[in-house]
Amino acid sequence: HDTEKGAYPHYMLKEIDEQPAVIRRLIQKYSGDNGKITVDPDVIQAVTDCDRLYIIACGTSYHAGLVGKHLIEHLAGIPTEVHISSEFSYNMPLLSKNPLFLFISQSGETADSRAVLVKVKKMGYPTLTLTNVEGSTLYREADYKMLLYAGPEIAVASTKAYTAQMAVLSFIAVATAGRKGLALDFDPVHELSIAAQAMEQMVDDKAQLKEIARDFLSITRNAFYIGRGLDYYVCMEAALKLKEISYIQAEGFAGGELKHGTIALIENGTPVLAFATQENVNNSIRNNVEEVLARGAHTCIISMEGVTEQPGDQIVLPKVHKTYTPLVCAIPLQLIAYYAALQNECDVDKPRNLAKSVTVE
Ligand code: G6P
Repeated sequence: HDTEKGAYPHYMLKEIDEQPAVIRRLIQKYSGDNGKITVDPDVIQAVTDCDRLYIIACGTSYHAGLVGKHLIEHLAGIPTEVHISSEFSYNMPLLSKNPLFLFISQSGETADSRAVLVKVKKMGYPTLTLTNVEGSTLYREADYKMLLYAGPEIAVASTKAYTAQMAVLSFIAVATAGRKGLALDFDPVHELSIAAQAMEQMVDDKAQLKEIARDFLSITRNAFYIGRGLDYYVCMEAALKLKEISYIQAEGFAGGELKHGTIALIENGTPVLAFATQENVNNSIRNNVEEVLARGAHTCIISMEGVTEQPGDQIVLPKVHKTYTPLVCAIPLQLIAYYAALQNECDVDKPRNLAKSVTVE
């Protein structure tokens, strides 16, 4: 039963474990008999026709949107901006001539996102909603819709919807590239199956992540995640997850930006966890780790097998194509937050002050 915990102590843990299966289901839902990604042609036409894509979202969905922007720009060459709904709604940026608005929302009910949808519809612009809930408000009210097929997400802190969002955004990028006749130098379905396999390996090896939570996060009030490129976006989600459920104050930071202020916060023993999965910035993120280490930080490096791996790295993720690293990073960032929350005896599934869907602006 989708809405029961079964043998799991928490919905969150169940939903973390479901992620490899969700990715496999998405491959089925969004690929044809020819083994190629297939997305509703009307959606892809709308994406191809726009001169700029505006992604609008809140919280974890916003973080998935940042990864989506990277993929859509790099693979499909569509200029893309990502905006926090509540900001966009009151401080609308200068818009392009033919914008398309993409709303990302697990629940499809978030009031801040809906406020933007209502505004841009009034202005006559086309809208697309990516949601987990068929028939939700944002689903009904958008011109185009796509589903996440993640199954009901019960824990307040979003996990499987996040990875599903990133996977579907990659489908939009791949299908748009196809429509535009841009050749990809990898097979997305094949690489995504490898990513699902890697995620499976990570959920099967929880002991190492429990140890990281114990060694790095058991007696601390704050923590930093650092990364560059796609890893930076992963760090923002890692910090949010940690804050939401363990109440440890956390910040996700671009490695190179630390020296412009935030490094002042590094003291003896301050935990700094670095994601280092991106080949092109591997040296620079490792330099950032050295910089904080020299100031007493307690550092942990999460790297990738055969790509960025170095002896002494605390966690080495199984190798996946660079497009899909955030999917694999999601598992350790979620499980580290989960175990940190257990250590702090927090209510994992229902953190204080938070709601699953926020229906007020
Ligand atoms: C709430 C939830 C978050 C979620 C955000 C956006 O704050 O606690 O987990 O990321 O809303 O929700 P949505 O349903 O629009 O993705």
